[in-house]
Amino acid sequence: MEKTISGLSVFLSGKQESKAIVFVHGFPFDHFMWAEQVAEFSKEYFCVTYDIRGLGESVVGDGQFTMEMFVDDLEKVVDELKLDKPVLCGLSMGGYISLRAIERIQNKFSGLILCDTKSDADDNAGKLKRAAAIKQINSGDHNNFIETFVQICFSEKFTKESNVGFREIVERSKKNNPKGIKGCLLAMAGRTDTTGCLSKINIPTLIICGSEDKLSPPSVMKPMSEKIPNGRFVLIEGAGHMTPIEEPMQVNSEIKKFLSENKL
Ligand code: MLT
Repeated sequence: MEKTISGLSVFLSGKQESKAIVFVHGFPFDHFMWAEQVAEFSKEYFCVTYDIRGLGESVVGDGQFTMEMFVDDLEKVVDELKLDKPVLCGLSMGGYISLRAIERIQNKFSGLILCDTKSDADDNAGKLKRAAAIKQINSGDHNNFIETFVQICFSEKFTKESNVGFREIVERSKKNNPKGIKGCLLAMAGRTDTTGCLSKINIPTLIICGSEDKLSPPSVMKPMSEKIPNGRFVLIEGAGHMTPIEEPMQVNSEIKKFLSENKL
């Protein structure tokens, strides 16, 4: 079922009375990146996915986005659907949104799953990369930016062995509005560092990281997980930055174990 909340396209699967899991996707993707998780978890949970403002089928508006707006959007989805302490699951940019949401409104959630993400804000080199990406898109090179960026997100093994699946993801990502893509880049460049909130996370947390993730590598995610009091770190061997797409069976099994061990 599809619903529009504050201009966001929200997708619902499973029984509304079941415990909810809200999945927040990464950049430059859309809700579809969680297809394998929704297929599995909607058997027992109420799965909520949505397209982040500016991406997929959601509103683009003026493209002037901030991380705070993205957290406001997530909160609106939770409130409007009257979700009772859902589990929050975010990948990369979705993880930045989730971490800031936990810093602001932790009491609205009962569990946290962080996939291939980090709590650090962009450093100067990172901000300059965002600026270069915006310049490239402004010069009319949107498709090449997406092509190169998405390639970096996946392990070499996945791009070669799953060539059809990989091409589908690239083409789907290219359909995003350039204004929305630039808005997300600006929001990520301007986000705050959420490292200070890690030690204050008081809900069970699962941290999933691909061993070949070049954007949020194990060397960054493992120390981050150690700062979270009830955090469990899981390494997915051979996967890149997009663990839920690259190794869905393993990721689903880790999530299942986490949910059951914590009675979520
Ligand atoms: C993502 O997958 O959401 C992006 O890699 C995040 C980023 O560019 O920092």
